[in-house]
Amino acid sequence: MTTDERVLIELLKDTSLSYISGEALAKALSVSRNSIWKAIEKLKKKGYSITSVRGKGYKIKPGYDVLSKGIIKGDVTIFDSLPSTNDYIKRTDYKDSPQIVIANEQTKGKGRLGRYFFSPKGAGIYMSYSFKPKFIPEDTMLITCGVANVVLDSLLNISGEETKLKWVNDIFLNGKKICGILTEGEFNLENNLFDRIIIGIGINCFPSEVPDDLKDIVGFLSETRKVSYTRNDIISDIINGLDDLFVRKDTLDKDSIVSKYRENCFVVGKTVRLNTFSAEPAQVKILDIGDKCELIVEHLEGIKKGLIENISSGEIIL
Ligand code: BTN
Repeated sequence: MTTDERVLIELLKDTSLSYISGEALAKALSVSRNSIWKAIEKLKKKGYSITSVRGKGYKIKPGYDVLSKGIIKGDVTIFDSLPSTNDYIKRTDYKDSPQIVIANEQTKGKGRLGRYFFSPKGAGIYMSYSFKPKFIPEDTMLITCGVANVVLDSLLNISGEETKLKWVNDIFLNGKKICGILTEGEFNLENNLFDRIIIGIGINCFPSEVPDDLKDIVGFLSETRKVSYTRNDIISDIINGLDDLFVRKDTLDKDSIVSKYRENCFVVGKTVRLNTFSAEPAQVKILDIGDKCELIVEHLEGIKKGLIENISSGEIIL
C-alpha cells in the first residue's frame, strides 16, 4: 500500500476529530514528515478535500466518503463511472480468485428482469463480485439468497440498521427498497459447471434526487450523510462475508442459508400479488420459504385457487 493510501486511511478513521498533526501521522505510519507532506499533496491532487493548517495539521472534510482501494482488501478495481460493474467484469478474463469491481456511479446500471438500476454518483454502492464456484450449484437461488443474508449482516454490522428481505433478492428498510442483487452466471456446457458467477450488489446509501417513477419505491440506508461509517466499510464487510460463503468453504452451507433467509424474510405470512411470468399476476398467501429458498404459496384466486405450490421464479408485487 502506498503512503498516500495509508495517510488516507488514517484521516478517514475519524472524520469528526479535530486536526491530526503531520508528526502524529508520521509516527503512526513510521515514515518521515516529508513523506506525509508529499502524500497529502498527492491526495489533494486526486481530489480529496483535505485542509492543512500550520501548527495544527490535517483534516479531511467530514462526511467525505471516497471509495478507496487502500481500505478495501482483495483484487479490487474502482472506477469513478462505468455503465455497469457486472458488464465490466464479463469483459475481463476468468480468474481463479474473486474479482471485485466497484463504481462511484453507473450510467446503465442493470436490475433484474431487464430493468434499470438507478445508480447516482457518490450516493450508493455499486459493486460486482465474481468467482469460480468450487461447488456444483444445483440451485442458483441459494446463491442469491446467501448473498442477501451477507448484505443484510453487513448493513447491520456497519450501520446498525436492521434491514429485511423481500423474496427473492431485495433488501428493505422502513418499507422501501434500499438494495437489489443481480446474480448472473457464465455456464460451461462442456463440463456442466459455472466458469464464473457474477454477483452485482446495488445499495442506496445516501439520499439523492430520485426519478419521479421511483420515489415511492426507493429508500436509503441513511437519511443523512453524517454517519460514522463509509461505503468502504460496508463494501469491505460484504467482501469478507462473500469470501466466507463462497471461497473459504468447498460447499454451500444450504441449511444455514435457508434458515437465516427464512428468519429475515418479511413477506412470509403476507397476502400479496405474485407475478410468475407465465400468467397474469394473482393473489397468493405466502406460507413459508422452502428448503431451496423457494416460495411456498397458497393460491387465493384464479384456476389455481386453493392450490399450494412451490415457486422458484417470480416477483412479489407489494
Ligand atoms: C435489482 O434490484 O433488480 C438488482 C439490482 C442490481 C444492481 C447492481 S449495482 C452493481 C451491479 N451492476 C449492475 O449493473 N447491476 C448490479
